[in-house]
Amino acid sequence: MKTVSIGIIGIGNIGSAHAVALRDGRVEGARLAAICDIDPNKQTWARENLPDVAVYENHRDFFNHSGVDAVILSVPHYFHPPYAMEGFAHGMHVLSEKPAGVAVSAVKEMMEAAKASGKVFGIMWNQRTDPMYQEVRRMVQEGELGKPLRLMWQTTRWYRTQEYYDSGTWRATWDGEGGGVLMNQAPHQLDLMQWIFGVPTAVRAECAMGKYHDIEVEDEATLFCRFENGATGIFHTTTGEEHGVNRLEIFGTTGRLTAEGRTLTVYRKNGKQTTVETKEFETSGGQHVGILNNFAAAIRDGSPLLAPGYEGLAEVEICNAAYLSVHSGKEEAIPTDTKRFDALLRDLRASSKGKGKTTQEAPDGIYKKRWSNL
Ligand SMILES: NC(=O)c1ccc[n+]([C@@H]2O[C@H](COP(=O)([O-])OP(=O)(O)OC[C@H]3O[C@@H](n4cnc5c(N)ncnc54)[C@H](O)[C@@H]3O)[C@@H](O)[C@H]2O)c1
Repeated sequence: MKTVSIGIIGIGNIGSAHAVALRDGRVEGARLAAICDIDPNKQTWARENLPDVAVYENHRDFFNHSGVDAVILSVPHYFHPPYAMEGFAHGMHVLSEKPAGVAVSAVKEMMEAAKASGKVFGIMWNQRTDPMYQEVRRMVQEGELGKPLRLMWQTTRWYRTQEYYDSGTWRATWDGEGGGVLMNQAPHQLDLMQWIFGVPTAVRAECAMGKYHDIEVEDEATLFCRFENGATGIFHTTTGEEHGVNRLEIFGTTGRLTAEGRTLTVYRKNGKQTTVETKEFETSGGQHVGILNNFAAAIRDGSPLLAPGYEGLAEVEICNAAYLSVHSGKEEAIPTDTKRFDALLRDLRASSKGKGKTTQEAPDGIYKKRWSNL
């Protein structure tokens, strides 16, 4: 079977990790053929560290000349929909980093282009590879807790330093990133929430802007979600707590579960008794490399995607509804009112102070190294 040639646009923090995984043969049936980054430091790094890989200095040259079968987009979020659409127009399969985009309207356009192209379209929801969340999803969907009533997710293990926020001019600005913790870190759990429990029909949110850091966007958020079946959910996240937790609780009519760390605890009603079962999960699954392998397999032999690109929309819906709610002071419905959200985003971008400084360095291909003290 033909080896899939892959290009990556954006060789920063995560793009360099994808490049190294491909270079080191950790993605079966795929090879890295080209990269593109506008930063000369990243181009130099790529020339020195990625043998036999073509280096492009802008996306136009990449799309017109690389000739790769598939492209991975690991550029800042605003670029995901337009570059995905360009990829499809050039006959490429596309794997977008999360989030699918900043605004639902742009994500919907990307989905239309994907559909028209018939190409493989994936999104890097790497936490879907985690066997613990797969088991939680199975239990909820197969009714093992009875009818779902309530969910509570406290996901505060996203601590980020001021240096992190200063490490790129796009970061934590309305104009460069389009949001804060809800747009960058918590999308993983927002996606898992909707993957496990369904898409909320309405969200009410409170966000704290720059509570822990010198940034203009939110670094703390609390969402109150309503679901179609009458269930409710509370979702709390921040990048400000050095010793945060990641604790999911789901309650149903016949049981409850808690997923925290690598431990899943399930309480089941059994007549008048309650049984308690604890399951330890040794690994968190294949994560990023798992999704890369799944994407390559989908191209090669039509394997089903664990994270189809189309499923990136639901998380952006939740995030956009939350921002609308912060500004209206009211509960906001999903699907979101895209006209109102686009107008809000335009205002926020216009008021964005932006950042003059950046401490961006050459990448190291080892994602998380910069947070390794945690
Ligand atoms: N799945 C995950 O776990 C995960 C982890 C980190 C980042 N991400 C996502 O990946 C994306 C990038 O994040 P990052 O932390 O690697 O950022 P980063 O700033 O470290 O890297 C982005 C790179 O894109 C380059 N770039 C910017 N604009 C470009 C353009 N127009 N054309 C070509 N190159 C351009 C920059 O020079 C930089 O090298 C974000 O959307 C982020 O949400 C996902």
